[in-house]
Amino acid sequence: MAAGAISVGDLVAFVMFLFFLVLPLGQAVHAYTQLQTGLGALQRIEEMLTVPVEGADDRSGTRVVNGPVPADGPGTPASIQFDRVGFGYPGGPPVLHEVSFTVPAGSRTALVGPSGAGKSTLLALVERFYEVSGGALRLDGVDVRDLPRDALRARLGYVEQEAPVLAGTLRENLLITAPSATDGQLLAVLDEVNLGHLATRAAAGLGVQVGEGGVLLSGGERQRRGHRPGAAGRAPVLLLDEPTSNLDARNEAALRRAIDAVAVRRTLLIARTASPPSWTPTRSWCSTGAGWSRWAPTTS
Ligand SMILES: Nc1ncnc2c1ncn2[C@@H]1O[C@H](COP(=O)(O)OP(=O)(O)OP(=O)(O)O)[C@@H](O)[C@H]1O
Ligand SMILES: [Mg+2]
Repeated sequence: MAAGAISVGDLVAFVMFLFFLVLPLGQAVHAYTQLQTGLGALQRIEEMLTVPVEGADDRSGTRVVNGPVPADGPGTPASIQFDRVGFGYPGGPPVLHEVSFTVPAGSRTALVGPSGAGKSTLLALVERFYEVSGGALRLDGVDVRDLPRDALRARLGYVEQEAPVLAGTLRENLLITAPSATDGQLLAVLDEVNLGHLATRAAAGLGVQVGEGGVLLSGGERQRRGHRPGAAGRAPVLLLDEPTSNLDARNEAALRRAIDAVAVRRTLLIARTASPPSWTPTRSWCSTGAGWSRWAPTTS
């Protein structure tokens, strides 16, 4: 022993001890990794739980809706009236001050103004993501605060400026807004916005991964994925926020065709930083910095 020799029995015992040590050590590392993953998920769940819940559906919580409720269906486009609307984000300065204009039923109206003028904010107020802090916003003459949110939003088709794309497959992303759609219907929607190639070029078809935040799509593809005007269903009002900012001429023409196909007898309100696309407005409202005013009307 003193000479460095080791018996076979000792060697076997040593290897066994090593084995017994390494195995639990590996398990401890694995458990630590799983714990970290779990803690990350817990943090995300806590974030979700702290998301503020939308308030009561009406102003007083007991108010009875007895005004005229806009009728359903694409055959009855609704008017939108901004009546001295004031608004500021919670804790922030006023963003809108006494904004007044009307989007006539069945019109194609553009909101044109520099970045930060409040275009997306105006659309968010129509959707009642926020409540106006002054004045009133009316849909077909009915204050939107007097309409249950789900009834209001059923009348609105909304294409956000930053249409979010979630990690997962193309199919999963499309099903978020149309859970019962068949693959055939989803493919038709993709064709409508010139994105059919996404599903046909990949072996996985609609199962193709889009990546976290849609990183596997181009900027224009991400934007077109959010368009889907035909998917707005029977909504009599379409709100489009900067729908063409990332589009080339070919895709803008495709979007125009898609909108032309669905915008008949509907009210279209489109927000644009630059001048409105030539195909959009029957009238436009622009922010001059001093307020919103009628701009470049082509027809009345
Ligand atoms: N969630 C928010 N919280 C606080 N302030 C906000 C929020 N969203 C927008 N703002 C502020 O409100 C103002 C109007 O923003 P809004 O997004 O409506 O502008 P916009 O006209 O749509 O601009 P863009 O052309 O860049 O999209 C800006 O000053 C902006 O900083
Ligand atoms: Mg905007």
